[in-house]
Amino acid sequence: MDYLKQFETIVKEQLERVERLKEQKDFLDYKSLDTIVIGVVGGDGIGPAITGQAQRILEFLLNDEVNKGKVEFRVIEGCTIEKRAEVGKAIPDDVLEELKKCHVILKGPTTTPRKGDPWPNVESANVAMRKELDLFANVRPVKVPELGIDWTFFRENTEDSYALGSQGVNVSEDLAIDFKVITSQGTQRIAEAAFDYAKKNGKKKVTVVTKANVVKTTDGKFLDVCKEVSKNYPEVEMDDWYIDIMTAKLIDEKRRTQFEVFVLPNLYGDILTDEAAEFQGGVGTAGSANIGKQYSMFEAIHGSAPRMVDEGRDIYADPSSVIRAGAMLLNHIGYIEEADKLYKALEICSQTEKKLVMTGRDTGATSAAYANYIMETIDKLG
Ligand code: IPM
Ligand code: MG
Repeated sequence: MDYLKQFETIVKEQLERVERLKEQKDFLDYKSLDTIVIGVVGGDGIGPAITGQAQRILEFLLNDEVNKGKVEFRVIEGCTIEKRAEVGKAIPDDVLEELKKCHVILKGPTTTPRKGDPWPNVESANVAMRKELDLFANVRPVKVPELGIDWTFFRENTEDSYALGSQGVNVSEDLAIDFKVITSQGTQRIAEAAFDYAKKNGKKKVTVVTKANVVKTTDGKFLDVCKEVSKNYPEVEMDDWYIDIMTAKLIDEKRRTQFEVFVLPNLYGDILTDEAAEFQGGVGTAGSANIGKQYSMFEAIHGSAPRMVDEGRDIYADPSSVIRAGAMLLNHIGYIEEADKLYKALEICSQTEKKLVMTGRDTGATSAAYANYIMETIDKLG
C-alpha cells in the first residue's frame, strides 16, 4: 500500500469537506415543517426494549400532535451489529437512507466492535451517524444541584481524532500514524453554539479546553477560532484551560462550581464528559444531544448490555437515559412544555418519590412498568 498516496487522498478529502462546510445550510426551522418526522432507532442489545419505552412516552406526550399529523414516529430497523457486520458498514445504506428522511432521531445504544470481539472492525455507528448527518454539536448537560454543579458541555462531534479514526496509516510494520483534523469552519460553528447557548441562558462564562501548549497546530487553531468567536459575545467571558488540569479542576470542590459552559474538541470532550457525568451518577444517567443544522439525534450514552439480553433480562433494563434523551428531543423541536413535564416526572420517579426501583433483574420493576409510572406521574402533573 502506497502510504503517501493514502495521505494525499486524505488531505484531498478533507479539503473537499472544508468546501462543503463553507456551503452548509442554516438550522432547520421545525415550525416551518408540515410534519416533523421522528425516527426511532432501537440499536443493539437492550436498545430496542428501552427505546420502545421512550417512544411510548413521547407518543403519549405528543398524542394530539400525532393525531393532527404534525408529528410522525417512524421505527427504523436494521441498525444492528449483525446487519452492520453482514454488510461491512458502520450504517447499512438502506438505514442511512431512511435516517435522512427523518428530521430528528431517537437512538438506543449500538455496539462498537473492538479488537478481539467476534465482529469485524466496522466503525462505531454513533461516530458514523454523527459524521454522515453532520451532527457537529454534542451537547451534554451535567447537573448536581446539591454540589452546586451546573455544567453544559459543547463537544465538537465530527472532527479531531475521530474524523479519520478508522483511516490511520500503517506506514510499516513498526510505524503507525493516526490523524487529527481541526478546521476553522468546524470550530467556528461549535464555538458559536456554545456562546449562543451561554448568552441565551444567562451564563457568564465559556471555558475552552485544549492542549494547545503541546498540540500546537490543531488545538492552536481551535483555541484561536474560539477567541475570535468570543469577540462577538462581549457579555460572555471566555477563559481557556488545558485538558490535563481541567480534569483535575472538575474534582476541585472550590473551583468546579465556577464553570458553566465548556467547548472542546471531540476527544477531550469524550473524556471530560464521562468524568463529569460521574458526579451525577454515571454515564448511564445522562442523555446526549447530537445537533446539526439539518438533522439532530438524541441518544442514551450507555452500552448495549448484550449479557442482559442473553440472560433474558432485557425487559428489566433501565430506560432512564434514553427517556432523558427523549426529553432533550422534545425540547429541541419546540415542545418545551412537554419536555419540562418529562424532566419533572423523571426527577420525581428517580429521585424524590421512587415508587419503583430498577435493579436490572426480576427483583425490580420492568422497563414497561417504569415507563407507565412516568406516564402516570405526568398525568398527575396535569
Ligand atoms: C460517546 C461514546 C462514543 C464516543 C463511542 C461509543 C464511540 O463514548 O458517545 O461518548 O467515543 O464518542
Ligand atoms: Mg464517550
